[in-house]
Amino acid sequence: MSAPLGKDLLGLEHLSAEQITLILDTAEPLREISERAIKKVPTLRGATVVNLFFEASTRTRISFEFAEKRLSADTVNVATAASSVTKGETLVDTAKNLEAMRIDMVVIRHASSGAAQFLAERIESNVINAGDGTHEHPTQGLLDLLTLRQRFGSLAGRRVCIVGDVLHSRVARSNIWGLTKLGAEVAVCGPRSLLPTAIGDFGVTIFDRVEQAIEWADALNVLRLQLERMTAGYIPSLREYNRVFGISRERLERAPRDIVIMHPGPINRGVELDSEVADGPHSVILDQVTNGVAVRMAVLYLLAGHAPALAEAAKGGER
Ligand code: CP
Repeated sequence: MSAPLGKDLLGLEHLSAEQITLILDTAEPLREISERAIKKVPTLRGATVVNLFFEASTRTRISFEFAEKRLSADTVNVATAASSVTKGETLVDTAKNLEAMRIDMVVIRHASSGAAQFLAERIESNVINAGDGTHEHPTQGLLDLLTLRQRFGSLAGRRVCIVGDVLHSRVARSNIWGLTKLGAEVAVCGPRSLLPTAIGDFGVTIFDRVEQAIEWADALNVLRLQLERMTAGYIPSLREYNRVFGISRERLERAPRDIVIMHPGPINRGVELDSEVADGPHSVILDQVTNGVAVRMAVLYLLAGHAPALAEAAKGGER
């Protein structure tokens, strides 16, 4: 049968609400596999997946690897620092050489926006975007949606504010596409220097003060200040940023409702988020990480062309 998501997962912008819901519905029963004593089902036995990470990653790389292994795929991690990329080999040559060894899927993280699409147009294997520059990070967006859906039941009408460095954030873009497609209301909040000039085109509300965002939102998705991507002085200082936009317990105590706190990680503790909040009762940050494995299993399963019969992938294996 034809794959319900098409050949590749490059972003959430071009997925329909039905396709996003299908991924989330497929992820739900797959979560249970990770709770078993033997965390493995034979669904992707015989498939070979290459994880090609040109940028640092902890959560995404490791959870893709767990997802692949729990579905019984064979996995290879290419550490670009130790590969022929350092000798000047191009991205496409690298991928074509991997394909000559008969691989089936490539998971790619790259510093350049559009790198995943560029590759997908040039190789036969399925390509999954694990974060490309400031463009999209679709599996992060999906795991955020799953976490919110578990908390709220439905996203329709829920208010989610993305706080912080939206300018450099692929997570923000994937969240905005995914949340709006599933009927949530979306806002952004941060210093104007860290919001894209065209942010209004996304149809989101803009808050200049974090107190307004806390008053409005059911959930805050707090972004990391991406200091490594900042080429200019976007903020006066980290201390000043924390004072004006940092999410603290004192600020949350003034919220009119129980507010959910998310963060894609890695966290700059004491900058965008205080430790008391990151580790406190409002935080679902580790639920996001747990959901990351299930969502990535669902994406691999669906891209491999498996029928979206929800229980099918979770069957088999030993408990
Ligand atoms: N959220 C996220 O992408 O984290 P990593 O950079 O550690 O993969």
